[in-house]
Formats: sequence, C-alpha cells, structure tokens
Amino acid sequence: MDQFSVAIVGGTGNLGSALALRLGAPGVKIIIGSRDAEKAKHAVETLKPKLRAGEIAGTTNQEAVKTADFVVIAVPYEGHATMVADLKGQLAGKIIIDTVVPLKKITPFVPSAGSALQEAQQILGDEAPVIGALHNISAVDLSDVDSPLGDVLVCGDNAEAKQKVMQIIERIGATAYDGGAAAHAYVIEGLTGVIIHLNRKYKSKHGSIKITGIGH
Ligand SMILES: NC(=O)c1ccc[n+]([C@@H]2O[C@H](COP(=O)([O-])OP(=O)(O)OC[C@H]3O[C@@H](n4cnc5c(N)ncnc54)[C@H](OP(=O)(O)O)[C@@H]3O)[C@@H](O)[C@H]2O)c1
Repeated sequence: MDQFSVAIVGGTGNLGSALALRLGAPGVKIIIGSRDAEKAKHAVETLKPKLRAGEIAGTTNQEAVKTADFVVIAVPYEGHATMVADLKGQLAGKIIIDTVVPLKKITPFVPSAGSALQEAQQILGDEAPVIGALHNISAVDLSDVDSPLGDVLVCGDNAEAKQKVMQIIERIGATAYDGGAAAHAYVIEGLTGVIIHLNRKYKSKHGSIKITGIGH
C-alpha cells in the first residue's frame, strides 16, 4: 500500500482532522469531507501547514468518497445511519473505517443493529466491508503527531479489509490488534464511554487502552 487515498466523512471535526495529520505521508492522498464544501476547504487550509507530507483536499462528503480507496466515517452517532445511507451509492468497492461510538451525551448504548459498525454494514450490504477502528484513541493524542499512540482494536467480518486497515493503523504510529468479528464492535465502541468517564474522573485527555500479555 504505497499509494492510497483516504476520504474522511466528517473530516472537519475533532477526530477526522486529527487523523488527517497522522495520515500525512508520501503517497497518501487525504480528502476532507463535509456537509459544506466551503467548511471542508477551510479545514484544509488550517491543516495544510501542519501536514508533514501527502496531499490534502477538501470537498463535500459525497465528492470526497468518490475517488477514495478508504472511507473513514467520523461523524457523531446521531448522523451516522443517515450519512452512510446518503453515501451508499458512492461507497461500493471501498473499505469503510467506522470510528463512530453510539453515545447518549457521554453514556454508551447499543443501537438496534448491535453496534454502529453493524448498522453501517446493514445499510451497505455486500457493497463495501465495514471495519471498526480508532474508537478508543482520543483526537487530542492523534493530533499531536509526535506523541506515541497506544493500542487500537480493529474489528470486522472481512479479513482482507481488516488486514489493510490494520496496516494503516500501524502506519499512523499505533499498535493494531485484530479485535475479532463485527459482533465484537459493541464492546470496543462501548469502551469509549468508559474511557470518557476515566478522563473526567482522573482529569486527563489521554485515556486509552493497552493490551497486555500478548506477544505482538
Ligand atoms: N473526538 C474523539 O476523540 C473521538 C475518539 C474516538 C472516536 N470518536 C468518534 O468519532 C466520531 C466523530 O467525533 P468528533 O469528536 O470528531 O465529532 P465532531 O467534531 O462533533 O463532528 C465531526 C464532524 O461531523 C459532522 N457532523 C456533525 N453532526 C453531524 C450530523 N448530524 N450528520 C452528519 N455529519 C455531522 C461535522 O462536519 P460538517 O459540519 O463539516 O459536515 C463535524 O465537524 C464520533 O462518532 C465519535 O464517537 C471520536
């Protein structure tokens, strides 16, 4: 995977913008998506001076996903199902990386599909594999490109797509673990609610997860 493109749906937000900075590398094209093309372009102008390498562009979510190999979904859960459904036609043949955590305020919940990942997969059917990743890492840590990143659990039912997403996770400086099938996603998504609680309780912005006892 020397050359690839990543569209970030909701790329103007905290997680999407931070991820863009981490993805910046030779041969990587990042396309920031937004519901508003002007907002995407503004985000790109802000990100450009901080980007180490790679290309970056900004446009509507609809346009952003068209030419991308990978599509990161980084919108709040409230907009998740509608956004995936709206983009459905353009997502065929791409690998979807779903970062979305179902939260009511800051409390995690399990949506009727079983998880955000499964919700997206139900909407997309066989058109595109959905892989869950990056739920348990904070935008604050992602945006500080020189700081070490922790462990990332990657889950989903398509082994080949999961492997590729794990490669991307390693490339941004985190340690990727195969977290299992899509059926595991609700646990991984829900852990974020616990991490948010820990951050509040212990006055941190850097809570994350660490896998121990496994040679990697
Ligand atoms: N922030 C973190 O540290 C973190 C960590 C792990 C996982 N996550 C997950 O990543 C996702 C994004 O988090 P975030 O903190 O980056 O969120 P955010 O900054 O609040 O929102 C991201 C972007 O989503 C778009 N958006 C907002 N409401 C929307 C809606 N109803 N429908 C469609 N698009 C909408 C907005 O972009 P436009 O207005 O430009 O369209 C916004 O800039 C969430 O699901 C969150 O659970 C976040």
